[in-house]
Formats: sequence, structure tokens, C-alpha cells
Amino acid sequence: MISLRHVSKRFPGTRAPAVGDLSLEIAQGETVVLVGPSGCGKTTTMRMINRLIEPTSGEIWLDGRNVLQQDPVQLRRGIGYVIQSIGLLPHRTVAQNIATVPRLVGWDDTKVDRRVQELAGLLELDPELLGRYPAELSGGQRQRVGVARALAVDPPVMLMDEPFAAVDPIVRARLQDQFVDIQERIRKTIVFVTHDIDEAIKMADRIAILNRGGVVEQFASPEEILREPANDFVKEFVGAERGLKRLALIRVADIEVEPGPVVAPEATAEEARRVIASFPFDWTSVVQQGELLGWIDLAALDGHARVADLTPRPFSAYVTAASSLRQALDSIVTSRTQVAVVAREGQRYLGILTLQRISKEIVS
Ligand SMILES: Nc1ncnc2c1ncn2[C@@H]1O[C@H](COP(=O)(O)OP(=O)(O)O)[C@@H](O)[C@H]1O
Ligand SMILES: [Mg+2]
Repeated sequence: MISLRHVSKRFPGTRAPAVGDLSLEIAQGETVVLVGPSGCGKTTTMRMINRLIEPTSGEIWLDGRNVLQQDPVQLRRGIGYVIQSIGLLPHRTVAQNIATVPRLVGWDDTKVDRRVQELAGLLELDPELLGRYPAELSGGQRQRVGVARALAVDPPVMLMDEPFAAVDPIVRARLQDQFVDIQERIRKTIVFVTHDIDEAIKMADRIAILNRGGVVEQFASPEEILREPANDFVKEFVGAERGLKRLALIRVADIEVEPGPVVAPEATAEEARRVIASFPFDWTSVVQQGELLGWIDLAALDGHARVADLTPRPFSAYVTAASSLRQALDSIVTSRTQVAVVAREGQRYLGILTLQRISKEIVS
């Protein structure tokens, strides 16, 4: 969808080029995050795509057309652009701001209204905010208005330059989650710039790690970058806790869980003791026809004939197939049993996860 071919940019009066010789292919519907230290050429690269900056050399193709041969104004209307300082018009209401490009391209009132309502819904903006002015909004709300405005005419491509950098960490995390969720539904081709590797890991299908002069040090999926950083620069940029960050990307469903100790309520205390003895634990799950009821410990069996005589205790360390291994790890270290029990929807028992099993994923 976007193809950068040996692109360079040298600003007048500077010695080193801001971007030296950059080539990058971005597929349709993909979110590519450009990440790298301040001044490495991220913004310059992004702004060459919509021709807010003219490349010194090289070619940029978008959806099969050379952008340098298109009228820049036309080009920009087909590309959503979101920046940190947003650039909302202060004397226009939220609704009017969102409607900027639809108005420019001549949509009628009904169509514009419908689209504004639709975008407010998509971005979870309270309809009552639509009549307000940008100064009357919180930072997070303003940022969402900026995204809504960029999406207004449903452009196939979005360029987003540190869009969430100015808001506090809690709001930022919410905006990121919301954006990932929206992108799953709308599947735009997105180039997203950040200097925050964790944001990149969370948002990206693929990450391009840039060094000074727009040098691409690695262009790969977050999982691959964490598993196999291409060089010391990437390793250092990704930082400590590489293994833990990777665990956040792996879902429990992606790995084989282990069979844990399981008894049915109908089992005798003797049978339960035997099951427990075959595992290095002093407890067992109680499962009735596939449904996880809880757990009982060895000592509680004393003086009872059957498992059904005991009330199973609920698991505190309980994860589902959709949980990340990072969440499973959290569960494990805070639980009395030192393992996480895995269930599907409807409490269907799947197995257990131990610290040993999870550490295998950290080193592999
Ligand atoms: N208009 C300009 N004139 C001269 N130098 C510029 C201009 N814009 C950016 N630069 C330089 O180009 C390099 C890359 O900048 P930029 O793309 O903004 O980096 P990033 O977005 O990664 O922080 C920096 O060294 C910056 O100082
Ligand atoms: Mg920048």
C-alpha cells in the first residue's frame, strides 16, 4: 500500500541528511510503527508520505501511484493525519472540527451529520461534547477528536505522529487500547510514529526501529524483535525486560498447557490422595464434567470419605486461553498454589501453567 524507495531528505544548510536512504514496504491494512530516538528522522519520514516535506531523492508510492506526481492537496485529503498537538481549530466546535474535510470535499449536511455521529460513537465521544469547543475538553478527549477528524472521509491510510505522547500514562494506555480495538474493525493502513518502544509493541503489526539518519536497524513483528533483536542498537533500544515484554504478546492459547491434578466430586478421598501424590503439589483441581469447580488441598481430605464432602475453594490464579503469559505469570507469583489454572469460557478446565513452563517461553 505504501512503498518508500531509497528515499532521502537533506534539509538546506545541514550537513548530515535527516533521512539517508530509506526503503520500506507497508502492506494494506497493516499498522507499521516507526520507533527510534529523538531526531532519528521519524517525523521527516512520515511527512514525506503526505508531502508536507518533499523528499530530496527517491520515490514514494501509495496504492500504486507515485505521490510525487499527485497534487499535494488532493493527496492529503486521502490520508488521515494525526499529530501530537492535534491542531484542532479553537473557534470551531468539536462537530465542526470533525467535519472539516467532509465539508472541504463537498458533502451535504445530512451526510456530514451522520458521519460525525458515527465517528463520535466509534471513538466513544459523548454526543454532548460535539457542541463544545476544543478548550473545553480533556487532553484525552481532544486526542480522540483529532483521530475522529482524521478518519472523517474514511481515508485508506492514516499517518499518526506521536498522537498520544502529550496525555498522562493512564489516559494514554486507554487511548492505545481503544485504538487497537478500532483498528481491528476498520483495518486502515497506518504509519504510527512514537519514541516509546512499549507503545510500539502494543500497537504494531510490524515495527521499524530507526537509527539516526533514518537508518532501519530492524523491520519485523514485535514478537520477532523481542525474541531476536537484530543488533546491539535494537537490543539496547528494546531495553531490559525483553523476555517479560515478549510474554505480554503470547497468549495462553498459543502454547501447550500442562495437565494438572484433577478429580471429580464423586472421587473418594483415597483416589484424590493418589492423584495429588502424582504431582509435585499438595492440592488438586475439582472438575465436574469438564467444569472447573475449584480446588481442595491434601490436608482438608483428612476425616472425609469423598471429595464431595468438601467445598472446593475458588482459584485466585485463574487465567483463560485469551490471557497473556504475562498475566499468567502475575497470577502464578501471587497465588498460594504457585501455578495458574487455565479455563476456557464457561469455566471449562483446560490445564495448568507453571513457572517452569512459562520460563521456557522467555528463553526460547
Ligand atoms: N525543517 C528542518 N530544517 C532543518 N533540519 C530539520 C528540519 N526538520 C527536521 N530537521 C532535522 O532532521 C532530523 C530528523 O528530525 P525528525 O524527523 O523531526 O526526527 P524525529 O521525528 O525522529 O524526532 C533532526 O536532526 C532534525 O533536527
Ligand atoms: Mg518527531
